[in-house]
Amino acid sequence: MTGERHRAAVTGERHRAAGTGGRRRVVVTGGAGFVGSHLCDALVARGDDVVCLDDLSSGNRANVAHLLEPSVGAGGRGSFELVVADVSAGLAVDGPVDAVLHLASPASPPDYLRRPLQTLAVGSEGTRHALELAGGHGARFLLASTSEVYGDPGVHPQHEEYWGNVNPVGPRSVYDEAKRFAEALTMAHARTRGTDVAIARIFNTYGPRLRPGDGRVVSNFLAQALTGAPLTVYGDGSQTRSLCYVDDTVAGLLALLGSAERGPVNIGNPAETSVADLARRVLALTGSASAIEHRPLPEDDPTRRCPDIGRARAVLGWAPSVPLDEGLRRCAAWMAAELGVPAGGGGPDGGGRVSAGGGGGPAGGGAP
Ligand SMILES: NC(=O)c1ccc[n+]([C@@H]2O[C@H](COP(=O)([O-])OP(=O)(O)OC[C@H]3O[C@@H](n4cnc5c(N)ncnc54)[C@H](O)[C@@H]3O)[C@@H](O)[C@H]2O)c1
Repeated sequence: MTGERHRAAVTGERHRAAGTGGRRRVVVTGGAGFVGSHLCDALVARGDDVVCLDDLSSGNRANVAHLLEPSVGAGGRGSFELVVADVSAGLAVDGPVDAVLHLASPASPPDYLRRPLQTLAVGSEGTRHALELAGGHGARFLLASTSEVYGDPGVHPQHEEYWGNVNPVGPRSVYDEAKRFAEALTMAHARTRGTDVAIARIFNTYGPRLRPGDGRVVSNFLAQALTGAPLTVYGDGSQTRSLCYVDDTVAGLLALLGSAERGPVNIGNPAETSVADLARRVLALTGSASAIEHRPLPEDDPTRRCPDIGRARAVLGWAPSVPLDEGLRRCAAWMAAELGVPAGGGGPDGGGRVSAGGGGGPAGGGAP
């Protein structure tokens, strides 16, 4: 079968580009989001049949539109199915399931601060449904957790044995604690039901398909630089972030999925960059004349963030390989096309001025 099929389902509408039977079948929640869509690309490319469940609350149909083309599923590539559904309400998938990758969750600060109850729901109920689906099929389960479980960390770099420093009642707790609960639930299913689980603690990831100005530091800076808007740096910009290109993150997630490791395993790039330095790099590579504007630090903003990836290197043989400037260039090219502006020069006359998240959230602060 080829092409796309529409039908109403209990959980929402379904769109399918069909493939053939007898292959590994992988469920990806949040697969129409930024990281999830790149993960779906990689899974389909290696020949897996992917069922993507997404409510499109922060994801985008355009991120997976190419996977719904009739040619997908042909020539040895895997197939792709998009199910538009809220996984907090349930997770019904017919047929065999070999792996469940649970990425559904708001991830940028403005997204989870705008939808606090939904964020807690998908971290708790959504994770429970995904674990039960995996457990019921004897499938491997992978949780996309986050470096935010370390909160504003007291140790540097952050290794997996560090228990974190999270304010449980601050505004960001809806995300941090949802992920901490999701980790606890994952381990409880492994211990009590023998579910085959893996926990990835993903550090800041960037790349094409980040929504321009979505409140994460790279997307805000690039969108601002490309449109000539001032780059908003929260605080003095001395806080650090460690930025991992999305292809590297996806390779780390697939390495963990393919291993027998339970984790948690940090997946991130240990190259630490101050937010002020990142702003300068973005201005240089886009040739933008944008100014840098300082704003007060948001509440509970982590001051340093850097993964210790010793465990990922040792047990997965994984380490990131894309240098920051190269990754930023690829991301800038994509975002410029998205915004309809030239990639190499923003500034007031850079063309196609688009409002790009000047007030979109803690650009210099808390991208997850
Ligand atoms: N990008 C990063 O830097 C980063 C860092 C750490 C952890 N993560 C984790 O990776 C995952 C993906 O993050 P992302 O950056 O791609 O974010 P994203 O917002 O682009 O993707 C999340 C996806 O989940 C979907 N979703 C949200 N709630 C849902 C629900 N109830 N039911 C179904 N779908 C739902 C959204 O529509 C979206 O497509 C998240 O779990 C996030 O916590 C990301």
